[in-house]
Amino acid sequence: MRKIGIIGGTGFTRMKQLEIIHREVVNTPYGEASAPLTHGRLGNLELLFLPRHGSGHNIPPHRINYRANIWAMKELGVEQIIGFATVGGITQPPQAMVIPDQLIDYSWSREQTFFDGEDGQVSHVDFTEPFCGELRQILTNAALGAGIDIVTEGVYGVTQGPRLETAAEINRMQADGCDVVGMTALPEAALAREKGLCYATCAIVVNWAAGKGDGAITQELIDAHLEIGTASIGSLLQHIK
Ligand code: HPA
Repeated sequence: MRKIGIIGGTGFTRMKQLEIIHREVVNTPYGEASAPLTHGRLGNLELLFLPRHGSGHNIPPHRINYRANIWAMKELGVEQIIGFATVGGITQPPQAMVIPDQLIDYSWSREQTFFDGEDGQVSHVDFTEPFCGELRQILTNAALGAGIDIVTEGVYGVTQGPRLETAAEINRMQADGCDVVGMTALPEAALAREKGLCYATCAIVVNWAAGKGDGAITQELIDAHLEIGTASIGSLLQHIK
């Protein structure tokens, strides 16, 4: 049975459907992961679950220890990781589920590599296709099986946060080709690639990005879409083969 790593984002700090086997704290050379990792089963799948923002959702995107999280997943034998993320929609409306195929990085000052030159090793991984095609296909098939509408490609722009963007920033991102905006797919995807792991993001649009909807982006608006999105994630996971 293969083991799939699940990194949960905002609104996904626990996996209700998971049959929990045990929790494990992993010591990494980079410090602590966001939370203990939960080993569990879901149907035929063996899963390893980690809430990216911590069990109490108290770690903001720019303070997540992405290196520790990816290192811990690799250490515990995962070969594929699905990173769930809530995002703002630039070309996609709230409630859309998007499996992006490309990334643009607008974040800064994050620890974003395992190849820091400290051990005398410099390495430049290929990142032409930042997400794992095989896993994107698995997610697409699961969505089809679950009867969930899915957008099978798109460009995810990664901002630094934690504040949301200005309308002008979003216009610039749209001109760059971004379809959705979030804060966490990088450095997560790049670190997974450096460790030779197959990584894909499943993004849930929870609001129109700044300037694309009517008026301000409120937490109430986000929460309403988030609840529906989280239910879709549950049924998507149950259809993974
Ligand atoms: N911008 C950046 N990240 C986000 C957003 C947004 O509008 N919504 C959810 N995550």
